[in-house]
Amino acid sequence: MVKQNQSTITFLLLPLLFILFISTKIEGANKLFVFGDSYVDTGNALNSGSYKPPSGITYPGTPAGRFSDGRVLTDYIASFLKIDIPISYSLKNSSNLQNGINFAYGGTGFFKTLVDGPNVSVQINSFEQLIQQNVYSKSDLETSLVLLNSGANDYTTFALKNTSLQAIQQFTESLVKEVVVNLRHIQSLGAQKIALTLLQPFGCLPIISSTSGFQNCIDTLNLVATNHNNLILQNVDDLNKEIGKPVFKTLDLYNTFLSTIQTMQKSRAENSTLMNPLEPCCAKDSAGVNCGKVDDKGQKNYTLCEKPELSFFWDNVHPSQNGWSSIYTQLQSSLGQLI
Ligand SMILES: *[C@@H]1O[C@H](CO)[C@@H](O)[C@H](O)[C@H]1NC(C)=O
Ligand SMILES: *[C@@H]1O[C@H](CO)[C@@H](O)[C@H](O)[C@H]1NC(C)=O
Ligand SMILES: *[C@@H]1O[C@H](CO)[C@@H](O)[C@H](O)[C@H]1NC(C)=O
Ligand SMILES: *[C@@H]1O[C@H](CO)[C@@H](O)[C@H](O)[C@H]1NC(C)=O
Ligand SMILES: *[C@@H]1O[C@H](CO)[C@@H](O)[C@H](O)[C@H]1NC(C)=O
Repeated sequence: MVKQNQSTITFLLLPLLFILFISTKIEGANKLFVFGDSYVDTGNALNSGSYKPPSGITYPGTPAGRFSDGRVLTDYIASFLKIDIPISYSLKNSSNLQNGINFAYGGTGFFKTLVDGPNVSVQINSFEQLIQQNVYSKSDLETSLVLLNSGANDYTTFALKNTSLQAIQQFTESLVKEVVVNLRHIQSLGAQKIALTLLQPFGCLPIISSTSGFQNCIDTLNLVATNHNNLILQNVDDLNKEIGKPVFKTLDLYNTFLSTIQTMQKSRAENSTLMNPLEPCCAKDSAGVNCGKVDDKGQKNYTLCEKPELSFFWDNVHPSQNGWSSIYTQLQSSLGQLI
C-alpha cells in the first residue's frame, strides 16, 4: 500500500519537475546571436590570421578562427548560458543552428573599415533574412541573448584620417547614432535581451602602450573611449525607458580591462617573474603587430612568451584567453542581471 502511494506521488511529481526544468530553461537563454568584430568572432574571417598559427595554441590547440591564443568573450558567454558556442555564419548549414549564430567578423565596424568584411548592419540583415525564412521563430528570439561588440575598428579607421580632438568628438556622435540604429533594428526583430559591450581602454592596448615602453596606458586615448562609453550609456538608458523594460544592458569592457591590468601590475610588483600585463605574449618586439608573420621561407618571424596563461594581451590589440577569462569573471554579475 505504502509502496503504491510512493510511486503514485513520484508519478505525479515527475511531470511537475519536467515543467520546472522547462521553465527555468526559458528564463535563461538557449541561443546566442553575436554581431561585431574580432573580440567576439569565433571563425568567420576564413582568410585571416585567426586561421593561421600561432592563434588557437592554447585552445583548441590549432588555429580555428579566433583572434587569440584561446577562448574569447563569446566562448565565455556561451558557457555562462550553458550552451555550446553558436556556429559561425561562414560555416553554417541546416543542422548546426541550434545554439544560435555568430555573425561577427574580425576587423569590421559600424562603418567601412580597413577590412573588407560585413559591417554590423549587414550582419544584422543576414540575421533578419534567416528570421524571414523561419529558420528562427519569435519564441526563439524571446529566449535568446544577443551580444554586440563593435566600434574600435571605426576609431582606428577614423584616426588615420583626422586626429583633431574636435573631429573625433564629432565622429563619436555620428558613431553612437549608428550604434543606436543597429540596436533598434535588433530589438525590432524580437530580441528581448541585448548585451552591448562598452569600448575597451584604447590607450592600454600594446600597440599604443608600447610608446611608453609598456609602462602605462595613454590617457588621452582612454578618454576617447570614455567619452564614447558615456554617450552610449545615456542612449541605452533612453532606449530602455522608451521601450519600458530593460532590454539593453551594457558589458563594461573599459573598467574590467583596467581593473585586471591594475591587479596584474600589483601582483607583479610582488613577484617579478609574473608578466607585465601591458606586454603582448606574441611578437613583443613589434608591440604584437607581427604576430603570425612568416618570412619568405615560411619561417616564423615572431617570438612567443613562455607562458601565455600569465599574459593579459595576446597580440597588438587582442586579450589572451587568460585576459578574457578574468574579464568574463568580472562581467558575470552584469550577465546575470540580463538573463
Ligand atoms: C554541418 O556542419 C557540421 C559542423 O558544424 C558538420 O559536422 C555536419 O556534417 C554538417 N552537416 C551537413 C548536412 O552539411
Ligand atoms: C554597411 O555596408 C553596406 C554594404 O557595403 C553599405 O550599403 C552600408 O551603407 C554600410 N553601412 C554603414 C553605416 O556604413
Ligand atoms: C580634421 O577635423 C577638423 C575639425 O572638424 C577640421 O578642421 C580639419 O580640417 C580636419 N583635418 C583633416 C586633415 O581633414
Ligand atoms: C611567482 O610567479 C610564478 C609564476 O611565474 C610562480 O610559479 C611562483 O610560485 C610565484 N612566486 C611567489 C613567491 O609567489
Ligand atoms: C625577423 O626578421 C628580421 C629580418 O629578416 C630579423 O632581423 C629578425 O631577427 C627576425 N625575428 C624573429 C623573431 O625571427
